[in-house]
This record gives sequence, structure tokens and C-alpha cells, in this order.
Amino acid sequence: MERLQKVIANAGIASRRKAEELIKEGRVKVNGKVVTELGVKVSGNDQVEVDEIPIDKEEPIYFILYKPSGVISSVSDDKGRKVVTDFFPMIKQRIYPIGRLDYDTSGIILLTNDGEFSNLLQHPKYEINKEYIAKVKGIPTKEAIRKLERGIQLEDGKTAPAQVKIMSMDNKKNTAIVRLIIHEGRNRQVKRMLEAIGTPVLKLKRERYAFLDLSGLRSGDARELSPHEVKQLRALASTKHR
Ligand code: URA
Repeated sequence: MERLQKVIANAGIASRRKAEELIKEGRVKVNGKVVTELGVKVSGNDQVEVDEIPIDKEEPIYFILYKPSGVISSVSDDKGRKVVTDFFPMIKQRIYPIGRLDYDTSGIILLTNDGEFSNLLQHPKYEINKEYIAKVKGIPTKEAIRKLERGIQLEDGKTAPAQVKIMSMDNKKNTAIVRLIIHEGRNRQVKRMLEAIGTPVLKLKRERYAFLDLSGLRSGDARELSPHEVKQLRALASTKHR
């Protein structure tokens, strides 16, 4: 037996917190009856519906989106800003982003309705590599780069060693383009790492997520992942290879 909100979250319908809201709003039925309390436990034999749709009836579906900057990595926004799911008007399934990119960050974000897959890819122990290209103010010194490579102390702890390379620099404008590969996914991590060495980020793009890159996609484009890509991502996560 599991708590109803956990079952809804694991089915990929919504986060645990959002699932609690769905229950309180009276949008969830168990065996045909609306349930509005949070304590209820259900088993695999119970029929759970959200907005009249049985939660196990959705086919799992997986997408890669080239998120433009100026878009929220969420399924809704109370300020009415554009969200990542706005790029999928034809998709009936309740997809949501796997992790997040900042509002002003562009690049790869994956979306799915498969909660187990989403949890797998985000679990820190699987160390999925993500590659970022940052334009920074200032030019990082060799010593600063070494600090990032070794791991740098941030307010929420030391970061894991990163792969860092200066791709180009503009001495006149005092800016540089830096490539950073990390496998952690802390909040605003790349910006905080580069800020910590004295070169704040002006622009940030995620160019690679595991083996997936943006080839063939323009900003705002999305495509479905092939079954093979989904399988490869699962295999990567469970074997901790990158
Ligand atoms: N690191 C950040 O600082 N921002 C992002 O959007 C992603 C990683």
C-alpha cells in the first residue's frame, strides 16, 4: 500500500506537492469515488483517476526540447510566462520537464510523463554528464579553472570535479566563452560556480545531456526520443557510465 500522492507522482502525473493539490482540489478518484484527504493509501488493485483519466492508461512518451531562454521549466506559471510544455500543444499526455533550466538559460531539456524514468535520470548517484557553454564577464585565470576542476566550495557544499575549458576569449570586451561539464544538478550551479571564481555568467546554454546534443534542432524545436535513445539513457543511468 502506498500513499495516494506518491502513486500519482510516481506515475509521472505531477510532483508530490502538486499531486497533493490535485487531491485537495477534488480531481482525484479512487475506485470511482472522489478522495480529498491526503492520508489515503492505495494498492495496485485500486483504480486511480486524475481528471477522469486512469493514471496507468497513459503511454510513456519522451521528448527533447531546445528550450529558448525566457521560458520557465515547468508545466504552468502563475505569472503567465511561457513554459516548456507550451511547445507541445498536440501532446495529450501530461508531460513535464526532467529537472530544470533557469528562465534565462537555453538548451536541452528532456520531458516525459514517465515518473520512474525522470527520477532515474535525476538521481545524483548516476552522474549523468551535462555540458554547458557559458559566456562570462572577465577571463578566468588558470588557477580559477583548476579550482573548478578540483571542486569549489559553494554555500551548499563543495562541487564534484568539473571538466572545464576556455573555448575563446575577447580581451577587448573582457569576456570569455567557457565549456563546463558537470554531473550534479544543484540549483543555479553553473552560474554559482563561475561567479565563485569571479567571472559571472552573461549567457548560458546546455549543449549536451549525456549523449544527446542539439543537432537538428533550432531554438524552440522538439522531437520525440527514439526507443533506442530512451533505452540508452536508462542503461547509462543504471550502469553509471556516461
Ligand atoms: N546551471 C545554472 O546555473 N543554470 C541552469 O539553468 C543550469 C545549470
